[in-house]
Amino acid sequence: MSTNGVTRRDLLKIGAVGIAGGALTLSGLAKMAADAGQAGAAVAAAQGGAPFADPVELALTAVAGAREGSLAVAETDLRLGGSSARLLSYNGSVPGPLVRVRRGDALRLHVRNGLAGGGANPLGESRGVTNLHTHGWHVSPADPADNVMRRLDPGDSWTYTYDLSRQPAGTLGWYHPHVHGLVAEQLWGGLAGPLVVEDPTDALSSYETHVLVLKDFTIVNGRPAPYSSPMDYMMGKVGAMVTVNGQVAPELTARPGTVQRWRLLNASTARFYRVALDRHALSVIGSDGGLLDKPYGVAELLLAPGERADILVKASTTPGVYRLRTLPYSRGGMMGGMMGGGGMMGGGMMGGGATPRATLMTLRVSGRKSMKTLPAGIDPTAQRARPDLSGAVQRRFVLGMGMGRGSINGRDFDVDPLVVRTQLPASGDAWEVWTIENPTGMDHPWHQHTNHAQVLSVRGGDAGYAALYTQAPAWKDTVIVPRGGSVTQLVKVSDWRGTAMFHCHIVEHEDVGMLGVWQID
Ligand code: C2O
Ligand code: CU
Ligand code: CU
Repeated sequence: MSTNGVTRRDLLKIGAVGIAGGALTLSGLAKMAADAGQAGAAVAAAQGGAPFADPVELALTAVAGAREGSLAVAETDLRLGGSSARLLSYNGSVPGPLVRVRRGDALRLHVRNGLAGGGANPLGESRGVTNLHTHGWHVSPADPADNVMRRLDPGDSWTYTYDLSRQPAGTLGWYHPHVHGLVAEQLWGGLAGPLVVEDPTDALSSYETHVLVLKDFTIVNGRPAPYSSPMDYMMGKVGAMVTVNGQVAPELTARPGTVQRWRLLNASTARFYRVALDRHALSVIGSDGGLLDKPYGVAELLLAPGERADILVKASTTPGVYRLRTLPYSRGGMMGGMMGGGGMMGGGMMGGGATPRATLMTLRVSGRKSMKTLPAGIDPTAQRARPDLSGAVQRRFVLGMGMGRGSINGRDFDVDPLVVRTQLPASGDAWEVWTIENPTGMDHPWHQHTNHAQVLSVRGGDAGYAALYTQAPAWKDTVIVPRGGSVTQLVKVSDWRGTAMFHCHIVEHEDVGMLGVWQID
């Protein structure tokens, strides 16, 4: 069922989109057909093509040594893929506005919860409660900063205050809700926005720069398809439509031979993107935790939910239209590991098949030639950490799934949460070696709050992914733990004390218990 890259699951979703009626039916079907490589000219014409647009920026005002802005959470009617859809938004936009700050800023974000609430979701959580997490920011995990235990009921407001004196410059982070049990629904519905901490130097400022928030949707009856079954939570939702900054297949223009910087964020709940640009190489210059020492050339880039990548793209000197695609990728299913990586189960009820190939964006290379070169070096201070590890704490985490629930070391967060404790020294950092094992049949993106890590080794999975992150001086907060494999990472714990978390960033899994507490004292 997956020979052309479209799984039965996707076909079911096309069916669901079709029932919704109106223009969405046509554009949704056209898009799916085009992405499956069955496109005729008419289909191609119906698909996207609007000019690429960066996320809007949040207006910040300077107030007494701090910078302040406001985010209002609400249900909003928006245009999505040529139809209207009632999504969850920050300040009326999906993705939410880009927050641009500098290292050292004090930032205050006034968050108002304008959700209606009422009723419980399939996990029994009361709908409408939200909060704000700054994913990838090395800030305090306690009030008044990144305390994810805080709950904002409908109508509530709260001011988050972040001390960005320890947060590395040159980073792309993001914000999203983090109320356990409601994260998947709210992120799936549209609540996510980028956080940019400006570069340490202006060495990259001559390159035209764009932020690309990758997010998938399935719209049924004018709304995000509801979570209805344990299978939604076990498999994670994979949308019928992929968007870049809320647009279907927008078109970006570049002059032949020029270099652009694209900063990618996977803000999907559960979809992995295998990003490639037709007949172009990608040069990775930064990851979750900041810039790298130099560009790392790759043909394609795997981006799991929560991960970011900063890349340079040198446009071809041959004018034309090139597609930025996500290539088929199988992250496995409930039984994928037992069935040899999803082969037999591909596209079956367990959903172990590959996500289909899809166009994220087109790059139109046209105009006067501009002969730019890729820089030889990026951030000379970026390096692989080599601390003295004698006496370093070693930890082992084993991911588990079954009976509609997730776990870490056999502990389901809702039943008996796993709590690990780190004692920070009075001065300096604590270094820890964490091995995360994944005996399940599905890849899980492991994420820890507050502190970053360098990947020491990866067993299994995509060879290019493992090579990049074990060789480059990348600081990661989210890393794919391949099915049947493991990741060992070196965690640098510094500066902040409080209650942090670690979890799978297929956020459906987080909601069903694949989450633990990291108490830093
Ligand atoms: Cu992006 Cu704990 O989350
Ligand atoms: Cu996070
Ligand atoms: Cu998971």
